[in-house]
Amino acid sequence: ATSIPADDRVPDMERRELMNLLLLGAISLPTAGMLVPYASFFVPPGSGGAGGGQVAKDALGNDVIASVWLKNHGPGDRTLTQGLKGDPTYLVVENDRTLATYGINAVCTHLGCVVPWNKAENKFICPCHGSQYNNQGRVVRGPAPLSLALAHADVDDGKVVFVPWVETDFRTGDAPWWA
Ligand code: FES
Repeated sequence: ATSIPADDRVPDMERRELMNLLLLGAISLPTAGMLVPYASFFVPPGSGGAGGGQVAKDALGNDVIASVWLKNHGPGDRTLTQGLKGDPTYLVVENDRTLATYGINAVCTHLGCVVPWNKAENKFICPCHGSQYNNQGRVVRGPAPLSLALAHADVDDGKVVFVPWVETDFRTGDAPWWA
């Protein structure tokens, strides 16, 4: 065999190892970076539990604390919060001063205007083309073709958490058109 001086072999090995390390680094750094959004996809931000829930946010962007909300919102109150996917969603205070277990998505099913609550009429009345929904968001006058979407409003660790509503629409007995 051809003899290679020992002095030459050693630096050569070191160079190869360095190359391997650089190569490893070049692969693993972006890979690790990609894993972060991948992992966070399965852990929704603000979630108090499983099932794609999201903590309701008030007009200032703060988490809605159920007990505080009930101190400031009386029976029959319907006030907008930020719900699933950022959709404006009404939190409902029942007449017995408890929070309803559902929230009402305020996006009109006609052309998407945000529908205000009309306390005097006890209805949601859309300012865009006059659609009307009863106090649970069930459509009672067109042109809106469908009732307002629902979300579950759960309380988790004291906070109101919206969870996608995939069950039957209790107002109509129909399958949820939004799920
Ligand atoms: Fe509400 Fe047309 S967008 S009635």
